[in-house]
Amino acid sequence: MKNRLVLAPMYRVTDLAFRLICREQGAGLCYSEMVNSEALIRNNKAAQALSLSCKEDRPLAMQVFGARVESMKKAAETLCREHEFDFLDLNLGCPSDNVINQGAGSALLKRPKRIAEIIASWQDFGKPVTAKIRSGQNILHSIKLAKEIERAGASAIALHARPVRQKNKGLVDFVAIKRVKKAVGIPVIGNGGVKSQVDFERMVEKTGCDAVMVGTAAIGNPGIFAEILGKKPIFREQAFLRYLELSHKFGVDSYFGRMKTQAVKFFEKDKEKMQLFQKTKTLEELTLVATLKKQ
Ligand SMILES: Cc1cc2nc3c(=O)[nH]c(=O)nc-3n(C[C@H](O)[C@H](O)[C@H](O)COP(=O)(O)O)c2cc1C
Repeated sequence: MKNRLVLAPMYRVTDLAFRLICREQGAGLCYSEMVNSEALIRNNKAAQALSLSCKEDRPLAMQVFGARVESMKKAAETLCREHEFDFLDLNLGCPSDNVINQGAGSALLKRPKRIAEIIASWQDFGKPVTAKIRSGQNILHSIKLAKEIERAGASAIALHARPVRQKNKGLVDFVAIKRVKKAVGIPVIGNGGVKSQVDFERMVEKTGCDAVMVGTAAIGNPGIFAEILGKKPIFREQAFLRYLELSHKFGVDSYFGRMKTQAVKFFEKDKEKMQLFQKTKTLEELTLVATLKKQ
């Protein structure tokens, strides 16, 4: 990694085109959004598209969610055979009902034995395995879990220091990150609430974490990485035009719903354009709105 700045995995956000702009803005490591293991092994077109990368998109952690060891192993096998990336990452934090009802994401936090089995089953593919967890009911639970993950063979842990019930908002437990970092020998990536250079420095100083993961603050705003590094960030409007260009190059733009959701986020400070984006029905209309000059 060229620095300690990490783009978080974010469903419907961190596609290949988006990651490339975050890298241009300075992100040292990017995560893919979570990919469904069952969909991957069914060769689902959308799941395959989510796993796309390219040689500029490195280092890349490919994140997978699922609950069944056999499916997770097959999914990892498929990914390693068909895609280019550096780390296989296990999602242990998703709070969405849809994922929890499958026994995956944060539902697995209560099943350390299953976690260890999945991580062990991923050791055969020649790629480092990482896991992204959340802080639990108490710090001791997080420490115990992190140690078990390390023992199972993981090479790094990202800790989103908020409990599941908080989803992605509210207070972040720096002490949990600090204690987990002290308890394990593998790198720990701290995550939660970093929106500026000051937040970044505070996270490193208060927790001693090895790297810092940025989520929400990057949505519609890849320039946050340049900002944190003390460099001049790309304007949001310009960043969206770059997103359109890269999406076209890599076929991300064949998913119009995604393009529209991304557009709204990039332009959330321009209410007029945001409303226009919401009315668009085609990529041409969306591009037209993006390039409209202000009167
Ligand atoms: C829109 C959205 C989608 C997310 N999708 C994922 C995901 O696919 N996998 C995952 O592990 N975490 C996911 N997260 C959680 C983030 O990776 C991150 O842990 C969380 O947002 C906390 O970081 P922040 O405070 O910087 O936003 C998502 C968060 C958001 C806001």
